[in-house]
Amino acid sequence: MRENYLHTHRPREIPQDLNGRIVVTSYTIGYIVGSISSTSINRRLAQALESLAPDNVTLVEIPIKDLPFYSTDFDADFPQVATDFKQTIKDVDGVLIVTPEYSRSIPGVLKNALDWAARPYGDGAFDHKPVAVIGTSGSPIGTAAAQQHLKAILSHLNAPTLGQPEGFIQSHPGLLTDGGEIADDTTAGFLRGYLEAFTALVSRYAAGEERSEARAA
Ligand SMILES: Cc1cc2nc3c(=O)[nH]c(=O)nc-3n(C[C@H](O)[C@H](O)[C@H](O)COP(=O)(O)O)c2cc1C
Repeated sequence: MRENYLHTHRPREIPQDLNGRIVVTSYTIGYIVGSISSTSINRRLAQALESLAPDNVTLVEIPIKDLPFYSTDFDADFPQVATDFKQTIKDVDGVLIVTPEYSRSIPGVLKNALDWAARPYGDGAFDHKPVAVIGTSGSPIGTAAAQQHLKAILSHLNAPTLGQPEGFIQSHPGLLTDGGEIADDTTAGFLRGYLEAFTALVSRYAAGEERSEARAA
């Protein structure tokens, strides 16, 4: 989280410092692509999201393709790639998971990555980390079944997830270009709103509001 100052006049409800300067907080959101396919449409969707993010949000990829298969044998001595993977999740303000649906669930490569993040027991990287899930496939339900499974896993990992809007994107040829452009304005507008909603969730956790509310309850 980073704070910058803009010298402009805005309504009072916008956060300001004692000198009336507007406080703009910047966030880093890591994204995980649940596909390692070289032609992944979900990677294209992630690239599109990068270009549509609000000005105060930077999206950075958290790669999973070099993670070995997880085993408890590694718990005593994690490989560097897994240590780095976990640390990156801990360091970012929120995580966006962009995933395809495989056999009505999440791809094995993504589950493997989540297992690395969860272990060793008691040191889960997703604990209290705000997460949003989104995905695309050619199906009319646009990865909805995979996302339900993914949210169940994230709940166990104690990660608060974005409830609404839900990002079920039905892909069709030409919707997402190689460079991550979106051919359709309605979809682009939806994705902008989706990122704004997730940024609002991330900002509440970064400010510590959600944690203190949970303690008070
Ligand atoms: C093993 C496998 C299982 C699949 N199962 C589903 C599925 O359950 N639901 C679905 O909508 N698409 C399914 N598909 C089709 C994928 O949505 C499609 O291949 C998509 O392009 C994968 O995303 P990616 O290009 O980002 O890898 C499956 C594809 C594969 C290879």
